[in-house]
Amino acid sequence: TQYTAEINAFSTDNADELEQFRIKFLGTKGIIKDIFDEFKAVSPEEKRTLGKVLNEFKQLAEAKYQTLKDQTEVADTSKDSGLDLTLPGDGFEIGARHPLALVRREIVEIFNKLGFIVAEGPEIEDDWHNFTALNFPEEHPARDMQDTFFIKKGGEKGDIALRTHTSSVQVRMMEAGQPPFRAIMPGRVYRNEAISARAHCFFHQVEGLYVDENVSFADLKQTLFYFVQELYGEGTKVRFRPSYFPFTEPSAEMDISCTICKGAGCQMCKYSGWVEILGCGMVDPNVLENCGIDSKKYSGFAFGMGIERIANLKFEIKDLRLFSENDARFLKQYKTSL
Ligand code: PHE
Repeated sequence: TQYTAEINAFSTDNADELEQFRIKFLGTKGIIKDIFDEFKAVSPEEKRTLGKVLNEFKQLAEAKYQTLKDQTEVADTSKDSGLDLTLPGDGFEIGARHPLALVRREIVEIFNKLGFIVAEGPEIEDDWHNFTALNFPEEHPARDMQDTFFIKKGGEKGDIALRTHTSSVQVRMMEAGQPPFRAIMPGRVYRNEAISARAHCFFHQVEGLYVDENVSFADLKQTLFYFVQELYGEGTKVRFRPSYFPFTEPSAEMDISCTICKGAGCQMCKYSGWVEILGCGMVDPNVLENCGIDSKKYSGFAFGMGIERIANLKFEIKDLRLFSENDARFLKQYKTSL
């Protein structure tokens, strides 16, 4: 009982004092061991009552030891590791989408509403898909319209090159099936040009293709007119000027009323009030036939635009190089558009 009172009264947050306590009561030469040794000598009648008391005493000492041990361990970690659990946590920064990705997504969404799906193809192309199937005659100067990065000469389908436009994806799509086709082809394209504020050796395009029975130039005009109203706002004007592409006949270039000055004249539109945004036309029957499509039964239109140009007019970006320099000060500006 004297020991019971001592155990009950004992308390410490010091590991050394606690160890002393353990040795005194629970150690191999401790009090409890001694008592149990004496216990062996008592008579069987006494053993029954005394045994119960002794076991309770032993449990009391063990429980006390365990409780104090847990407490001192907790106290020790906070003291020794220098960990301050009251400090506020570190924030982390969220990135921004690239302006070209934002514009591409907007373009894709508008054409999705008109039922156009998205098609993709390889950036390394053969001569057939990039030129020949698209009605570029071999050794014809029209190929020089697009300065090409060649990778390899020869082969079954001619030279291997980096694609100069995503029209190659139109060829792949038409070769793989039969009309109706209604798709847009976003992707990166490459041209061998000196890098400046106005030109780069790669840029991004979205081309479109619509082939079915009785598709007319009126469908082309209305589709692109709708696209521009959605992208730049209602009231944006369009005009078509005759042009030339080997794969379309007739061909046109489409201008829109300048998005910056609303047609009043500014640097962006060289004070003309108009800016060119895309090339388009009716798919040349030769192209349909090259891809195994009956040009008597089907007709179609195609168009192609540069995403950089579309983005410049939306965000008033004047230097193309900004898109690929990864300057965080430039990219951060588009954070709100997440
Ligand atoms: N492929 C053309 C280019 O890259 C764009 C275009 C596509 C023109 C479809 C007309 C029709 O310049």
